[in-house]
Amino acid sequence: RRSSSSAASTPSCLSRRRFSSSPAPERKVAILGAAGGIGQPISLLMKLNPLVSRLALYDIAGTPGVAADVSHVNTRAEVKGYAAEEQLGQALEGSDLVIIPAGVPRKPGMTRDDLFKINAGIVKSLSEAIAKYCPNALVNMISNPVNSTVPIAAEVFKSKGVYDEKKLFGVTTLDVVRAKTFYAGKAKVNVADVNVPVVGGHSGITILPLFSQATPKTNLSDEDIKALTKRTQDGGTEVVEAKAGKGSATLSMAYAGAIFADACLKGLNGVPDVVECSFVQSTVTELPFSRPSMLIFLVTGESEHVKLGKNGVEEVLGLGPLSDYEQQGLEALKTELKSSIEKGVAFVRGN
Ligand code: NAD
Ligand code: LMR
Repeated sequence: RRSSSSAASTPSCLSRRRFSSSPAPERKVAILGAAGGIGQPISLLMKLNPLVSRLALYDIAGTPGVAADVSHVNTRAEVKGYAAEEQLGQALEGSDLVIIPAGVPRKPGMTRDDLFKINAGIVKSLSEAIAKYCPNALVNMISNPVNSTVPIAAEVFKSKGVYDEKKLFGVTTLDVVRAKTFYAGKAKVNVADVNVPVVGGHSGITILPLFSQATPKTNLSDEDIKALTKRTQDGGTEVVEAKAGKGSATLSMAYAGAIFADACLKGLNGVPDVVECSFVQSTVTELPFSRPSMLIFLVTGESEHVKLGKNGVEEVLGLGPLSDYEQQGLEALKTELKSSIEKGVAFVRGN
C-alpha cells in the first residue's frame, strides 16, 4: 500500500531544494474564486509553486487587487487577473489545472449541504465554462458541498460530451491534513512522519479516517481512536464555530489545496508514485446505483488514494484492510453519501 506522505508528494513550494536539471514544463493554473478567503492564500501558494508558469486568477469581485498583489512576488508564474464573467473564457483557455474555491462558506449552525442552494448553481456554470474553454484540464473542486459539487461537475461535463473521470477531483486533502495533525498530537509522534488515509466523502460521518492504517504505528486505545475520528469528522465545524460567523477554514484549506494541486502538477509532469486521497469516481468494489446511466461514484470507497499521472488519475488504489470500527463507519456513511451524490446529479438533470 502506498503512502500519501511519499517523497513524491512533498509540495514543490515547500521543498527546500530542487534537484531538477531541466526546467519544469509550462503549466497554466486557473483559480476560480481567487479573491475569496481560500482563493487569496491559495493564489499565493500557487504563485510560490515552481511548477506553475502561468496563473490565471478569476473572481466576480476583488480580483484586480489580489492579482496585482500576488503578481509582485518574484517567482516563475506570470499572473493575470480576470474580473468579470466575460473574461472567464480567457482565464480558462489553455489551463492544465483549474482549482475551484468559488462559493459561499458555512456559518455556525449550518451543514455543508445548506450551501447547496447557492453553490450548486455557481459550480454548474463554472463547469460549463470549463467544458467549453479547457475541457482537457484537471479540475480540483473545493466548493462545498463537495459530495454534491463533484457529481454536478461530472454531470455537466457528461452533458457536454467532455467527461473524463480521470480528471475530476473533489479536494479532501484537508481531512488528511487534520487527521495527521490530530494523530500526531495524541500519539506524541513527529507530525512530519505521520500518514493517515482518509476515505469516504467530505462531510460529517462521510469523512472516514483510517487510523488503523496510520503510520507510524502506535498503541492508541479504542477510545482515543474514536475521539480522533470524531474530531477529524468535525474539524470543519470546529473552525466554523471558532470563526463565529466569519466563514470556515481558509488558511489550512489553502495549504491542503496547494498540496493537492501540486500533486496533480507532478502527476502531469510524469513524476512517478504521486499518491493522494481524493473524492473521485471509482469502481473498486460495489457500484452504488441501480440505474446504469447514473454516475458510478463508489459509495464504499468514494474518496480513495489515487495515483496521479500524466492524464490525471492513473490508478485508484483500494481501501486496504479496515478495522471493525472503520468497517462500521463505512456502512454508516453510505446512505448520506449516496443521497448527496444523487442530489448533485438530479440538480443538473433537472429532476
Ligand atoms: P469566500 O466567501 O471567502 O470566497 C468565495 C469567493 O468566491 C468570493 O471571492 C466570491 O466572490 C467568489 N465567487 C462567488 N461566486 C463566484 C462565481 N460565480 N465565479 C467566481 N467566483 C465566485 O469563501 P471561502 O471561505 O473561500 O470558501 C469557498 C468555498 O470553499 C465554500 O463553499 C467552502 O465551504 C468551501 N470549502 C471547502 C473545503 C474543502 O475541504 N473542500 C474547505 C474549506 C472551505
Ligand atoms: C472544512 O472542512 O473546513 C470545509 O469543508 C468547510 C466547512 O464548511 O467545514
